Amino acid sequence: MKYTLSFWDTLIRTAGFAYLVLPTTVRAQSCTPSTTTSGNCTRGRFANLGVVIDRIGVVGTEQCYWDGPPPIDPAVTLPAYNIPRGSCALIARHPTQSWRFGLILPPANQYKRRFFAAGNGGFNGGINWPDLSFAPHYGAAVVGTDTGHNSSDAGSGPQDGMQWAVDATKRTNWAYQAMDGAVHFGKILTNAYYGTSLEIKRSYYSGCSTGGRQGLKHIQRHANDADKMDGVIITAPAWNLKEMLPNHMAAAIANLHRQADGTITTTPILQRPQWINLTAAAFTICDGKVEGSSSINYNPDGDRVISIDDCFSGNETAYSESLRTVAPGLTDEQRAAAVAIYKGLVVAVNGTSTTVFPGPPPGGEADWSFTLGPGLEATFDQGLAQYWLADARGGTPWAVNNWDKIYKDGLTGKEWVYRESTRAGSTISEPTADDFAAMTNYGGKLMLYHGTADGVIPVASSNRLHQEITNVKAEGDWFRYFQIPGMHHCSWWPNGALNVPYIDLSFPPWYIATATQPLYLGSPKGYGVPSRDNPPDPAYDGIQAMIDWVENPAATPPASLIATAFNGTTTVVRTRKLCPYPQKAALTGSDINDSSSWTCTTV
Ligand SMILES: *[C@@H]1O[C@H](CO)[C@@H](O)[C@H](O)[C@H]1NC(C)=O
Ligand SMILES: *[C@@H]1O[C@H](CO)[C@@H](O)[C@H](O)[C@H]1NC(C)=O
Ligand SMILES: *[C@@H]1O[C@H](CO)[C@@H](O)[C@H](O)[C@H]1NC(C)=O
Ligand SMILES: *[C@@H]1O[C@H](CO)[C@@H](O)[C@H](O)[C@H]1NC(C)=O
Ligand SMILES: *[C@@H]1O[C@H](CO)[C@@H](O)[C@H](O)[C@H]1NC(C)=O
Ligand SMILES: *[C@@H]1O[C@H](CO)[C@@H](O)[C@H](O)[C@H]1NC(C)=O
Ligand SMILES: *[C@@H]1O[C@H](CO)[C@@H](O)[C@H](O)[C@H]1NC(C)=O
Repeated sequence: MKYTLSFWDTLIRTAGFAYLVLPTTVRAQSCTPSTTTSGNCTRGRFANLGVVIDRIGVVGTEQCYWDGPPPIDPAVTLPAYNIPRGSCALIARHPTQSWRFGLILPPANQYKRRFFAAGNGGFNGGINWPDLSFAPHYGAAVVGTDTGHNSSDAGSGPQDGMQWAVDATKRTNWAYQAMDGAVHFGKILTNAYYGTSLEIKRSYYSGCSTGGRQGLKHIQRHANDADKMDGVIITAPAWNLKEMLPNHMAAAIANLHRQADGTITTTPILQRPQWINLTAAAFTICDGKVEGSSSINYNPDGDRVISIDDCFSGNETAYSESLRTVAPGLTDEQRAAAVAIYKGLVVAVNGTSTTVFPGPPPGGEADWSFTLGPGLEATFDQGLAQYWLADARGGTPWAVNNWDKIYKDGLTGKEWVYRESTRAGSTISEPTADDFAAMTNYGGKLMLYHGTADGVIPVASSNRLHQEITNVKAEGDWFRYFQIPGMHHCSWWPNGALNVPYIDLSFPPWYIATATQPLYLGSPKGYGVPSRDNPPDPAYDGIQAMIDWVENPAATPPASLIATAFNGTTTVVRTRKLCPYPQKAALTGSDINDSSSWTCTTV
């Protein structure tokens, strides 16, 4: 059986702000994790190392791993597959704290003394087995944490009612403690397994979204200790949570119908059919230059559209007016809600109206299912304020109708939420750009990348991160940032999901094998770029590019990467050059579908 697109689509739409992958095909496998112990893959091998082994087994015919009963927790409903046979897979937990981690140890003859840590997604609590499964193919042991809570728990609610967030310990776990522990003990267990002659030589991190935030937080907290990372690949990080979470809340509330007296109802204004129309309209209004009507967001060389401001020089009214013409099916209320969402979070900062978080790009509306999908606005308009902010700080229960009114301390609900967010769990979770350059003290490398059509975390957010990092220390040979034209959040592109033919068949090239991508693609081997995986080609494969950058003494940072688009899982539709920001790709050859026709140029 193949899981179909509609299976995943339904899962994500019903289950929520999910792990954020939407594979077109993922092979179903028997999902009974092995408990067969043998060789060094035994409890005894890991005795007295500071953690309790909950489950252990040699990966055999049962190749499938997940961490909960589907489909309750979307973090863990996607099976990990194609873990190399003979690997030792285990779950360990801290004896007194609430976090657990998963660890996969490839067979000794495939082990290249590399250690990987993989990140999580959203607020999900659960071991992210799918994103653990590719690292062993690069000769790496790999660890991933459950973040210290269980999103499936009745007490927590599916992804999440956020109820767990009233617990300060669980907030700290989610913020960094669970990842700290997973890496720390993961390294100890790995060295115990392979023995001193095969001690870990190099450590890597890969994660998207929350996983990106966790990786940045890890760099910040481990500037030079045994748990440091030599190579870190960060995708679309949710790094500036204290602005992002209120923004997502504002978007959810902007999408709720207000009665004539201003009362905010639970009726959504924009739903899936309108997102599709907004995407189609954006392709018309903000048309790019290179590939005709479908080039928006992935125009590689020109005026890249990352905000509605880019379409009409900052004139939102003009965008709304254009929508009226191009998408006549939308009502005034729907257009107003859309423009409010596109605008991002605008609050008064010291009396001046300021955009503190950028809105999503036009063309990325399919991603709105992750924040505005049926039932999800509840997480963002209620759960965040109720559990992440209000209860957590001993306040009175939140009601969405506080949003526009004076709520507390002379602030409207919106202003209060923004202020509280700069004080509550967001700040302990948030990495600070000042600290990343410390990794240069030991020769660490950082690669950041972000899809320009990301409708969950806008690429403008990573532009700001890039700015903040380079304000502290120039890129030199330690840091590179790539934008991936046309890519949505982490790896997602709504092929087939929108039923808009010219959009669905445009296949923007983004595939570089990093966090969530092999799973999304349904990569037949479970890792790599299928057209370039034997062996993984560092020109095409971002993981291999990072490994080479770290391990080759003569290596320089990747001057470019080649992204691939597939029709299905193996047929290459086109390749495209990705240039380190702020360079752009210029068409210097004749075939737009061939990366060799593109040259990186300084703007
Ligand atoms: C277990 O690990 C040791 C190294 O500590 C190695 O010499 C031995 O061959 C391993 N045993 C098996 C069955 O893999
Ligand atoms: C998470 O919670 C669910 C529902 O309570 C439970 O079935 C599952 O076993 C829990 N998972 C773990 C790893 O404890
Ligand atoms: C913005 O666009 C509207 C509608 O096209 C137009 O009436 C208005 O003059 C524009 N504003 C600015 C400042 O250009
Ligand atoms: C979307 O646009 C199509 C074509 O203009 C129109 O037929 C349809 O009614 C629109 N749908 C919505 C929900 O506005
Ligand atoms: C707002 O005012 C405070 C106190 O004067 C100051 O510390 C802060 O930097 C100001 N914020 C901005 C964004 O200007
Ligand atoms: C993708 O594959 C389908 C089915 O084989 C085919 O109909 C379609 O033309 C292909 N699209 C592209 C852009 O190659
Ligand atoms: C590029 O690929 C697209 C999709 O397969 C195709 O429609 C187009 O003709 C190709 N362009 C060139 C120049 O080959």
